[in-house]
Amino acid sequence: MQKQYKSIRLLTLASLLLFGFSQSMASERYYKNGQEAYTKVCAYCHDTGVGPDSIKIKFDAASVDFRTENIFQTVRLGLNAMPAFRKTEIDDATLRDLSRGLATGTIK
Ligand code: HEC
Repeated sequence: MQKQYKSIRLLTLASLLLFGFSQSMASERYYKNGQEAYTKVCAYCHDTGVGPDSIKIKFDAASVDFRTENIFQTVRLGLNAMPAFRKTEIDDATLRDLSRGLATGTIK
């Protein structure tokens, strides 16, 4: 009986550790900012004619929030030939910075 409890405790501990690890992976930043993520991830297609240059269109102040959200969701969901990028590939904070940078025309 005692032995069984011990293995259940170990299993619980192991799954808690794994859960903690996967959480920290999801919030880890892989790029220092949106510009770096653009250069390392998006430019591969969007600066070579594979993806459209429309992502560099600068929006006016009244539409920036809408466009930022639109880019954010497009990257998370993918669009036809464009693959989706998960949180483990580009974290939320970096993707928000990247989306806003594209919408305001500050990403080169
Ligand atoms: C593997 C190539 C590829 C990569 C990498 C890629 N895209 Fe795309 N993207 C495409 C293609 C192709 C389309 C056009 C899809 C269509 O309309 O059928 C597209 C379309 C888009 C659109 C919709 C067009 C628009 O102006 O609203 C957005 C936004 C976008 N990409 C943002 C990004 C961002 C931001 C990144 C980097 C995180 C990225 N893409 C990385 C290939 C790529």
